[in-house]
Amino acid sequence: MFGVQKATQLTSGDDEAATLRRLAGLYAYPDRPASPPCLPRPFLRANMVSSIDGAVTHNGKSGDLGGPGDRTIFRVLRGLADLVLVGANTAATEGYRQPAPDDMFAADRAAREQHPAPALALVSRSLSIPGDYTPLTHPDTVVVTCRAAPPERRAALTAIGATLIDCGDDTVDIDQLLDVCAERGWVRMLSEGGPSLLGALIDADVVDELCVTTSPTLVAGDSGRIARAPGKAALHAMRPATIITDDDGFVFTRWTRATGEGA
Ligand SMILES: NC(=O)c1ccc[n+]([C@@H]2O[C@H](COP(=O)([O-])OP(=O)(O)OC[C@H]3O[C@@H](n4cnc5c(N)ncnc54)[C@H](OP(=O)(O)O)[C@@H]3O)[C@@H](O)[C@H]2O)c1
Repeated sequence: MFGVQKATQLTSGDDEAATLRRLAGLYAYPDRPASPPCLPRPFLRANMVSSIDGAVTHNGKSGDLGGPGDRTIFRVLRGLADLVLVGANTAATEGYRQPAPDDMFAADRAAREQHPAPALALVSRSLSIPGDYTPLTHPDTVVVTCRAAPPERRAALTAIGATLIDCGDDTVDIDQLLDVCAERGWVRMLSEGGPSLLGALIDADVVDELCVTTSPTLVAGDSGRIARAPGKAALHAMRPATIITDDDGFVFTRWTRATGEGA
């Protein structure tokens, strides 16, 4: 009944390059050979951090919950991804920058014919992203929105050079979003949240893998949890794929679908 899965230990004295390589191996995306004329369905991984008691933020941000090991995993996941997907609110709250090329992963990315850095997709219905948010005008950033987005905000963002993609009518339709990503070759997707976006992804049943950092903290307060969505709650079975701990007491888990691809 009980399986024993040994946790991998990350030790702060370890050589950084060796640690990054080891993690890149553990977190490698599954091979998804393209089968023309069908486009491969993207593999969607989400990464979130939470306190032991389930808080997704402290003082309104996730930063206080993180640590060096968490930042290393974050770096590795970006080093492997074609696309970073993030809710516009998180991008603004957490001061997201455009993902930059990382020398540590350059050779492997080139071998996989990936761009040097992942693209960035900001998900928003309101398009209330400040016009001076610099990633907006970067050629590798897209804003994923829907046809109900306010026309004046659409015009304002288009005028400053932002690339807007409509997926759906009243809200961003997640299946359409995945189709757009497949068309653009973004088959290794990484969602960095936040909770509303993850909730929408879970609702659409497109989460192939969830990476959760458990911060060795208790927070209480009124912070939300890592996913939320209106309406009826889902119950999708997952199974643990890797468990990693570090010297600071963080636990990094990687959960994949219990059935189907990625299991
Ligand atoms: N602990 C963690 O790992 C973690 C990770 C990320 C964020 N956070 C924290 O979470 C908080 C933000 O929470 P949140 O739930 O508001 O963040 P969020 O999921 O990043 O942002 C929600 C916004 O994304 C857009 N959105 C999401 N799904 C959509 C859909 N299907 N269609 C259209 N738009 C969609 C909407 O933008 P518009 O309002 O523009 O329409 C919505 O307001 C922040 O405090 C942040 O620090 C924590």
